Amino acid sequence: MPAPPPPPPADPAAPPGFAAAPSPGAVEVREGLHWIGALDPGLRSFDVILQTELGTSYNAYALRCSAGVVIIDTVKAAFTAEFLARLEQVARYDEITLIVLNHLEPDHTGALPALLARAPQARVVLSPRGLPMLRALLGAGFERYDIGPVTTGDAVDLGDRRLSFFTTPYVHWPDTQCTWLEPDRVLFTCDLMGSHMCDARLFDDLVGDFSGAQAHYYDCIMRPFRSFVTTALDLLEPLAPSLIAPAHGPILRSDPQAAFRHYRALTAARGAGRGAAAGGRSLLVFYASAYGATARLAQAIEAGAETEPGVHVSMIDLQAQQLGPFADLIEAADGIVLGSPTINGDAVRPVWDLLTRLADVETRGKLGAAFGTFGWSGEAVRLIEARLQGLKMRLPEPGLRVRMHPSEADLAEAHAFGQRLAAHLTGRAESREVDFAELASR
Ligand code: FEO
Repeated sequence: MPAPPPPPPADPAAPPGFAAAPSPGAVEVREGLHWIGALDPGLRSFDVILQTELGTSYNAYALRCSAGVVIIDTVKAAFTAEFLARLEQVARYDEITLIVLNHLEPDHTGALPALLARAPQARVVLSPRGLPMLRALLGAGFERYDIGPVTTGDAVDLGDRRLSFFTTPYVHWPDTQCTWLEPDRVLFTCDLMGSHMCDARLFDDLVGDFSGAQAHYYDCIMRPFRSFVTTALDLLEPLAPSLIAPAHGPILRSDPQAAFRHYRALTAARGAGRGAAAGGRSLLVFYASAYGATARLAQAIEAGAETEPGVHVSMIDLQAQQLGPFADLIEAADGIVLGSPTINGDAVRPVWDLLTRLADVETRGKLGAAFGTFGWSGEAVRLIEARLQGLKMRLPEPGLRVRMHPSEADLAEAHAFGQRLAAHLTGRAESREVDFAELASR
């Protein structure tokens, strides 16, 4: 077997994300463990939602053991030839006994069909929730291969080495798992602890400060699953790995424990809301208002919610606001209420912009509610409610709709609406969930 070429020389003057270094061949990570991934310096958006100005990498690994060769993850389909070329530098296809799929998203499984066609004898292991995804990916070919699920506690004896598996759902998809190599103490984390940054120097101690790229990745990829990230960190940190091998961006070898601390800081910084900090609950009332009518409802809702002891309420006019800072606020809040007038049968754009932004934020299980004024049809409230339901939020109260300008009676009802929402937050109100069919029929 030819020896892999050495990694490119590090250029300490080059900024993080520098991609002009010659693309490396297979790179030895540890004795017998090689990076065989792909570099994608030209990528400018990932999963549509994330800008990737520094490109990205798809990290895959080949592990030589006394029991054969293990491939851990693959790469995006467009980089199949590059991946196979690196693999061929360190192993023959007939040596491959095991393929580990930590996550089935196409950026990690695009080259899998080509790999399986060349190594059909290999056993494929993945999480149970990955099985239906793999069946869909391989189609009729699924039955041709030796494919089996693994979960936390399962391990594979590789002779001189051992792989064990940790099911870590929603970091990033339900199927995601992490893989632990002993005695090397290498942790393969797939998307977790990754960065969208393409740098041919590969290792964290060679690429300079990439904390910004790591934080941006966290914000866009992991943030909606913050509680799952925390659970995964609790599961994995006690392993005390000597090296963390994510599927995107630099390989973390300089101080893996610091990498855990950094990730915990990313999750914690967004976890402490004002209400929580004060030992209570927090409610945000967002609104946009064309003629002041919806704003008056918002004020009444805020005043009503403020009467509930232990609930901190903030009211925010969405008009001409930058939405970025709201992500932290919303993630820290226990509930959000959105108000919009109905204009041309729809909620207004600032409200939709915020609802779109919620895709990047962990909203599952938070309290949600909608309100608004209207002239003749009033669709905005129902549309907002449907979106909040789609975000897996909890809607304990049907939305509040008021025709034209609110009367004193309407404002009293808005005050009571705010009181009831706050009582749902503190648990004083009886728990209930508005049925989606009920919303649609109103
Ligand atoms: Fe890197 Fe969720 O894929």
